[in-house]
Amino acid sequence: MTDILRWGIMGTGTIAHKMVEGLLALPDAEVAAVGSRSQATADAFADEYGIPRRHASYEALAADPEVDVVYIASPHSCHRENTLLALRGGKHVLCEKPFAINRREAEEMVAEARARGLFLMEAMWTRFLPAMCHTRRWLAEGQIGAPRIVYADFGFQEAYDPASRLFDPAFGGGALLDVGVYAVSFAAMVFGSAPNRITGLADLCENGADGVNAAVLGYPGGGLAVLSSAVLAETPQEARIIGPRGSILVPSPFWCSDRARLTTPEMVMEEVDVSCEGNGYTHQAREVMEGIRAGRTESDIMPLDETLEIMGTLDALRALWGVRYPME
Ligand SMILES: NC(=O)c1ccc[n+]([C@@H]2O[C@H](COP(=O)([O-])OP(=O)(O)OC[C@H]3O[C@@H](n4cnc5c(N)ncnc54)[C@H](OP(=O)(O)O)[C@@H]3O)[C@@H](O)[C@H]2O)c1
Repeated sequence: MTDILRWGIMGTGTIAHKMVEGLLALPDAEVAAVGSRSQATADAFADEYGIPRRHASYEALAADPEVDVVYIASPHSCHRENTLLALRGGKHVLCEKPFAINRREAEEMVAEARARGLFLMEAMWTRFLPAMCHTRRWLAEGQIGAPRIVYADFGFQEAYDPASRLFDPAFGGGALLDVGVYAVSFAAMVFGSAPNRITGLADLCENGADGVNAAVLGYPGGGLAVLSSAVLAETPQEARIIGPRGSILVPSPFWCSDRARLTTPEMVMEEVDVSCEGNGYTHQAREVMEGIRAGRTESDIMPLDETLEIMGTLDALRALWGVRYPME
C-alpha cells in the first residue's frame, strides 16, 4: 500500500458529495475512484471532483486494484450487500449509518471483515468531532460523576412521501434508523454498554414507517437515556448528560455541534468552541486512515461490537413498535 490512502466512493448521492469534500481536506487521502449504478452518474460525479477512475457498477469499484478503502454511501437497505461486496474485493470499508437494517445483517458484515482481517467501521461521524472528544474526556475525568440520565433527540420535519427513502420501508425508512441512531449511539457512548431495559412508543406513518418516536433505555448498574427522533417533527436536537456533580450540554444540533459545555454545581463552567477540520466528515476519515496504517481492523472510538449493540437496540425498539421491513 502506498503512503497515500486511496478511497473509492460507492454511490453518488447527497452524503457521497459531503464525504468527498471532507476527504479533499486530507493531504494523505486520494479520492481515487467512484462507482455508480450508471456510467453517466459516475462520470458526472468524478468530473465534479476530478476523480480519475469512474466505474459503471459497484462490482467494478470493489474489484479496482487502485483502491484501498471503500466508502459505502448507498441507502441503508444496500449497506449489507455493498459492504460484503467491497470486503470480498479485499477493500477496507467505512459504511454509512445506520450500519445495516438490523443486527443480523450487521453481524454478517462484521464476521466477513474479521475473517478477512480488513478494517471496517460504521460512519458515525459525530463521534469523531472535537466537541464529542471533549465530552468523552470530561466523562473519563469524572467531572460530572457517573451519568444518571441522558437526553438526546434528533427530529426534523419532512413532508410524508412514501416513495422517498426516508419513509419507504423497502429502504429501511423511518426516523429511528435515519436519525434516531445518532441519539442511541450518543447514549451508548456515554454509558459504554448496551441497555438492559428498553421501552418506548412510536407514531407510525400510513406505510408503517416510524414518523415520530420516543424511547427510554436503562443501563446495567443504573442510568437512563430519554431519546426521541422524528422525520415528521422538528425537535430541539440537543444532547445533555446529567451526573451527580454536574452536567454536559452538547448544544443543537448535537450531531454536528462545534461546542460542548460542562457545568458543575459550583457553577464552574467550561465551554469549548471547537471548529471542525474540513467539513466534519474529515475526522472519521482520519480515524479510518490511522487505523489502517497502524494495522488495526477496527476503531477504538466506534468499535464493531458497539455498532452491533446499537443495531440490537434499534431492533428491540422496532419490535416494540411493530416496525418490520420487507427484507426481514
Ligand atoms: N453521515 C451523514 O451525515 C449522513 C447524511 C445523510 C445520509 N446518510 C446516510 O447515507 C446513506 C445515503 O443517504 P443519502 O441521503 O446520500 O441518499 P441518496 O441521496 O438517496 O443517495 C443514495 C445513493 O445510493 C446509490 N444507490 C444504490 N442503490 C440504490 C437504490 N436501490 N436506490 C437509490 N439509490 C441507490 C445511488 O448512487 P448511484 O446512483 O451512483 O448508484 C444514490 O445516489 C443513508 O444510509 C443515510 O442514512 C448519512
